[in-house]
Amino acid sequence: MSELIHVSVAWPYANGDLHVGHLAGAYLPADIFARYHRLKGNRVLMVSGSDSHGTPITVEADKRGLSPREVFEHFHHRFLETQKAIGISYDLFTHTDTENHHRIAQDFFTRLHKNEYLYKQTQRQLYSESQGRFLPDRYVEGTCPICGYAEARGDQCDNCGNLLDATDLINPRSKIDGTQPVVRETEHFFLDLPAFTDRLIPYLEDHAAHWRPNVINFARNYVTAGLKGRPVTRDIEWGIPVPLAGWEDKRLYVWFEAVMGYFTASVEWGHNIGRPEAWKDWWYRPEAKIYNFIGKDNIPFHTLVWQAELLGVERIYEDEEGARLNLPYDVPANEFMNIEQAQFSKSRNWAVWLPDILTRFDPDPIRFYVASVMPETRDSEFSWTDFVRRNNDELVATWGNLANRVLAFAYKNWEGRVPNPGPLEDQDRELTALIDAGFETVGRLIEAVQLRAALAEALALARAVNGYLDRAPWFSVVKKDKERAGTTVYTALRAIDSLSVLLAPFLPFSSERLHRLLGYQRPLFGSQRIVTYDEGQRSHEALIYDAGEAEGKWGPGDLMPGQRLEEPKPLYKKLDEEVAAVELARLGRPVE
Ligand code: MF3
Ligand code: ZN
Repeated sequence: MSELIHVSVAWPYANGDLHVGHLAGAYLPADIFARYHRLKGNRVLMVSGSDSHGTPITVEADKRGLSPREVFEHFHHRFLETQKAIGISYDLFTHTDTENHHRIAQDFFTRLHKNEYLYKQTQRQLYSESQGRFLPDRYVEGTCPICGYAEARGDQCDNCGNLLDATDLINPRSKIDGTQPVVRETEHFFLDLPAFTDRLIPYLEDHAAHWRPNVINFARNYVTAGLKGRPVTRDIEWGIPVPLAGWEDKRLYVWFEAVMGYFTASVEWGHNIGRPEAWKDWWYRPEAKIYNFIGKDNIPFHTLVWQAELLGVERIYEDEEGARLNLPYDVPANEFMNIEQAQFSKSRNWAVWLPDILTRFDPDPIRFYVASVMPETRDSEFSWTDFVRRNNDELVATWGNLANRVLAFAYKNWEGRVPNPGPLEDQDRELTALIDAGFETVGRLIEAVQLRAALAEALALARAVNGYLDRAPWFSVVKKDKERAGTTVYTALRAIDSLSVLLAPFLPFSSERLHRLLGYQRPLFGSQRIVTYDEGQRSHEALIYDAGEAEGKWGPGDLMPGQRLEEPKPLYKKLDEEVAAVELARLGRPVE
């Protein structure tokens, strides 16, 4: 029976280009997971979009002398191009400044208000006397009251990960002019998080067994420490208006509405494909599973705040009596990826930018490397030397060369067709059984979101095929015993066929090419397109995935003897050793 899988991917702030940290933290794991489930024939809905509100956007706009809209539209467009190029196969990648998102976020607010989960409270807020306005959290820096980190932001400490109130910062200073802000009173709506404690505890305990330890521990500690109400409106101009008279000067807090994007994008997707009710399968059916792929700095919002919002609205439209919106089933947060032993830094340009490296490397070698060192359980390291080594020793030597030399041999000696196997011997049957079992083992690891282990397992199977070929006679006997050689080559081709599917979630582009070289007509995956949707007053660009004729091929291959092959071409390129030095030298240079 096919399963309903929702892949909710963190929404990147559209204030700068995407870098390998984004890829390793959330987008690549989400894509591997989504592609696997599609190959299995499950019904996948994978959504995300540009986070276009909040002070990260306005800070960048101020810096560039542009409007917030100009900034987010610029980077949104680049996000679409980059993610298409690296193959992050969203069913819909939209943004939070659509009419759809504004309307539904306001509906959430209204329902939460009606259900009495929002309350008004006067808040003490930092006010800049030099600028004559309230300072958003992001415009304030100071010492973290919890861990003492000197550069904590007003909303969160990047050192200990705790959410903060700007007024609790020790020695606060304005990021605009360095002056010390004063405290003034202002009225805001608060989300009554404590009201959800009794429901959040059993929710966390129900899921504890399959959540990553760091995620469940973080969430538990938060609840144990005692939840506090959190303000969900702000004194800023850029953002979603508060849908209440008298509140024209305030906006919804960016985090309050951005997490709703998982839901609003699902609704938009249904609308776009002409099935406006389609989202309900993932959001109302109890057997549907929602996975939130995020970086570790986003854990509180995705394990508690978003859950509280979903519990608080219950359902979003009046005609859905009895229905309850589904909560995330798993929140597989990744840790951080450092670059050559130092933390990512935009200001120092210590980063590996995706639009840049995509001009010099194919997408699959990048995906392969990043998947191999993904920070699943602890912080990890992007290293160019390691990139080159893994490309050459693993991707090319273990896998690419294997596929290439067997295909070329078959193509040349059997007139471009898959040979007919003769009687199978033990070693042939053993290899086939080993590879077939890989669909179980690799599949189980992917389902448990242990993607590094899944990739390692698939590579180990490729090594087993190399070992099989080292032992079996094929080159030497092709002249005197063509039937025996044909059996070996058939067995190896069948294994390569299976491996192209086992590796396809990780290496979708080259697996697709190999699938065609093996003579299949229907593709493994659908295609991605950038489209423009008209929406009332506005239009917006989006990235979409169209399944088309894709084959749900997860499972032991059944390569047909006699099937016509295409003339093989190598799938990957060996990289010169000096590539590492050249790339290393680019790091930290100021951008032109
Ligand atoms: N924009 C946030 C970031 O880049 C992530 C938001 S995830 C969302 O850190 F769910 F809230 F959208
Ligand atoms: Zn701290």
